[in-house]
Parts: sequence; structure tokens; C-alpha cells
Amino acid sequence: MPSITIRNLDEETKQALRERAARNGRSMEEEARLLLSQLRDHDKKPEAIFASKAWSSPATAIANAQITADPNLDGKRILLIIGGGIAAYKCLDLIRRIRERGGKVRPVLTEAAQAFVTPLSVGAIAGDRVFSELFDRDDEHDIGHIRLSREADLLVVAPATADLMAKMAGGHANDLASTILMATNKPVLVAPAMNPAMWNHPATVRNRETLRHDGIRFVGPNAGEMAESGEAGTGRMAEPMEILSAIGGIISPDLKPLSGKRAIVTSGPTHEPIDPVRYIANRSSGKQGHAIAKALADAGAEVILVSGPVNIEAPRNVETIHVQTAREMQKMVETALPADIAVMVAAVADWRTENTADEKMKKQDGKGPASLRLTENPDILKELGHHGKRPKLLVGFAAETEKLAEHAKAKLERKGCDWILANDVSPSGGVMGGDSNTIRLFSKDSSETWSTMDKQSVARQLVNRIIEHFETETVTV
Ligand code: CTP
Repeated sequence: MPSITIRNLDEETKQALRERAARNGRSMEEEARLLLSQLRDHDKKPEAIFASKAWSSPATAIANAQITADPNLDGKRILLIIGGGIAAYKCLDLIRRIRERGGKVRPVLTEAAQAFVTPLSVGAIAGDRVFSELFDRDDEHDIGHIRLSREADLLVVAPATADLMAKMAGGHANDLASTILMATNKPVLVAPAMNPAMWNHPATVRNRETLRHDGIRFVGPNAGEMAESGEAGTGRMAEPMEILSAIGGIISPDLKPLSGKRAIVTSGPTHEPIDPVRYIANRSSGKQGHAIAKALADAGAEVILVSGPVNIEAPRNVETIHVQTAREMQKMVETALPADIAVMVAAVADWRTENTADEKMKKQDGKGPASLRLTENPDILKELGHHGKRPKLLVGFAAETEKLAEHAKAKLERKGCDWILANDVSPSGGVMGGDSNTIRLFSKDSSETWSTMDKQSVARQLVNRIIEHFETETVTV
């Protein structure tokens, strides 16, 4: 892809671009490229993009800077183990960003990493020597692997290849990187990067479970295109700003804007049984609710995610409670109270069968289909809106196929919540189960429309608004 150079940007625009890029975990070039492609794809007028609230509001910009937890790393020592993957080049940027924030980086290159980045370039950017040999004649007396592993506040493995993760999970120690990882008594953060087929391979799935169990922290991988042409899926290494944010979360957790706040999120569909093999359900994937739970946790909140049956992974750093039915979800939400924030994203089935058959209902030849008697499920959001322990900020979603504003405002009123995030779920829009969403946020006396974004960005945007809300302690939309 050809690179772009933009000259003569005034300071204010440059700063806004920098903040926007930081917020989205992209480089400034990537951010500018994305803005240009938005113009092309959606035929948007430049003013519409540049005048959007997220771009121009200083309060949002501050919140965004905070959510990425741009940390002060003054004097912090990061031992960066660079594995052998194409994403190794991003480590040069990561090193630069850590150093910009006052951190020190001591790089360790695996043998395979040296096929992707040279010790010379890594060392020059880190301002330190690069370590790569397990038995270095000079080093073992001077600074051996034990000292390397201990003289750091945090170990970061980026990119963590499938092989490196397998070694870590298996407890191997046959080169400098794996030996340091075995010998350390410091926290370890891993940024995996590999082909999606490798990431989803049962061996890698097992290894990451083991590593999580061992207390290893993960950042990424992200979904997107792979370096191999035509390949896409989950496996791209997290962007340097995301890794930086995760580093901040471990090294200086106090920085997080929602630290000390407790949040409940519901997500996914509910399944209402008809008989032992059939159920009433809907097309919700849980992607939006899970992304919101993750974004809240990234911003420092303690998050309890009550999830209906979904086929996606539970986010890290979030306590996930799995339920099947609306009544189970209601019970778990009730148990999770009190909370400062509740975001009800689940597409709760409005009805369940009055009586669930104990045995599979049989077809009765000639007698026509069985009829189902339905009864209403509890409205969890409405109950919270009128609860003695009502969360300070209560947010609901409105899935609509027509008269969006009218229905959303009515729901806000009826359910007693502070904000409703309304989205059009007509089948033509592909929101249900899809990856992007167009949101209108309604509060008691105003509304705003967000541009179409992927569900992670919707989650971050919402969390930014939540941070703003708690900064001012009034509902400002
Ligand atoms: N909700 C809930 N419990 C229910 C139904 C909905 O907590 N039994 C919550 C959803 O999580 C969402 C909001 O209420 O935050 C609105 O959900 P939606 O399905 O759009 O509205 P309904 O109340 O089901 O109304 P309708 O189906 O008439 O649009």
C-alpha cells in the first residue's frame, strides 16, 4: 500500500488527528487513510466527518485519551520479547511510544524475529543493546537471563507466535526468550499474532487457556486482513497503542477513568425452551454487548457480563455469567447489584412458553401443528429503571425496524433509563449478527446520531460518553 504524506496541517487539526488515532489504536497515517476512505465509500462531505462530535469535542477527546489509558511510564522498565512474525515491524513503533512516555525498553529478539527486524534497528530505537543469545560468553557473567527476567517491571511478548505461546504453555526453556519467561517473577503481557487458522487450532486454544490460567495477560489479537493475500480473520497483532494501553493497565492501573466503578452488562439472545430440543430465540450474536463489556473493563470498571448463549469468546478481565433464559438473566442481574453502571444490550426474548414440555413434542399426523401458549418474560431493563438499587447510569438499547426515534423515546420513558441507544435492525441493514452498527443516542432531552462504525468503536464511543458522564455527574448528551 503506498504511504501518504500530508503537509501543512495546522496544529489544531494535527492534534485532533493524533487524538483520534490514539483513541482508535491506529497510526496517524492509518487514521487519515481511513477518513479518506470514509469520504470515498459513503460519499460524505468532509465537513460532516470533521464536524462530528467525537472529532471536535474537547471533553470527548480527553475521555478518549483516557480510555486508551495513555500511561505515564516514567522510569518503568519493559523487557520486550520480539517473536518471529511479520508483525515484528510494529514493535519499532511500540518501542518509540513506550520511550515517549518515559519508559525504558530492553529488547530480546528470538532467532526467528531476526528474519523480520534487525538487532541494529531495534537497538537504535530502544537506545539499549539487544539480547538474543542464551549463552553469551560476555553476558552470562555480566547480565544473564535471570537478571534480565527480574530487572523489569513487566515482560511484553510481541508478536507472540503460536510457537512462542506453545513453549510458554509447555514450560520450555531452550532459548533466551523462553528461559527468561520461565525465570521471571514479573507480570507478563502477550500480544499474539498469527494466521487465523493457527489461532483457532485446538492446540493454540489449549495453550492460551493454560497461559490465562497461569496469570498471563493478553492483548489482541484483532480481526482483520492478514499479511498473506486473501486471508482474513482473527490473528492480527494488536496495534502499538492498544499494547501501550494494556501496559498502562498493568503497570499503572490507577490511571483508568472508570476505576472503582462497577458495571453490569447483558449480552446476546435468550433461549426460551419449548421442549427439551426446541426453543424460541433471536439472531443476536452478542458481539455488541461483549464489546461494551470489554471497553468498560479496559477503562478500569469492574464488569459483570451476563450473557445469553453466544458463539463468541468472553472478554478478558470481565466476570462472565452464562445463562439461557430471560428469567435466569433477570436473576443474575439482580444478584450482581448494586452497580454504578448498567448497560442492557441483550436481545431478551419478550415471551416464553407458558409450560415447557418435559418430553419432545411429537408431530400428530392429521391434527395440524401444535399451538404454543406464550407468556411475557420479565423486562429486566424496566425493572432496573424502577429498582431500589437502580444503577446511577442506566443504558438500554432499542432494536427497531421502523419509527426509530418515536419508539426509542417511548422506551426511554417507559423503562426509566437515562440513555437509549437505538439502532435499526431491519434485515437489510445486517446489524443483527453483523459487525457494524449505526447508533442514535437518546437522553431525556436530546439526541445525537453516530456515524456507522464497527461494534468495537460503538463500544468505545459509549464508554467515552460514560466517562464524561461521571466526570460531570450529570447526563450530558
Ligand atoms: N430488555 C430487557 N428485558 C426484556 C426486554 C428488553 O432488559 N424482557 C431490554 C433490552 O436489553 C434493551 C431494551 O430493553 O436494552 C429494549 O429492548 P427491545 O427488544 O428493543 O424492546 P422491547 O422492550 O422488547 O420492546 P419491543 O419488542 O416492543 O420493541
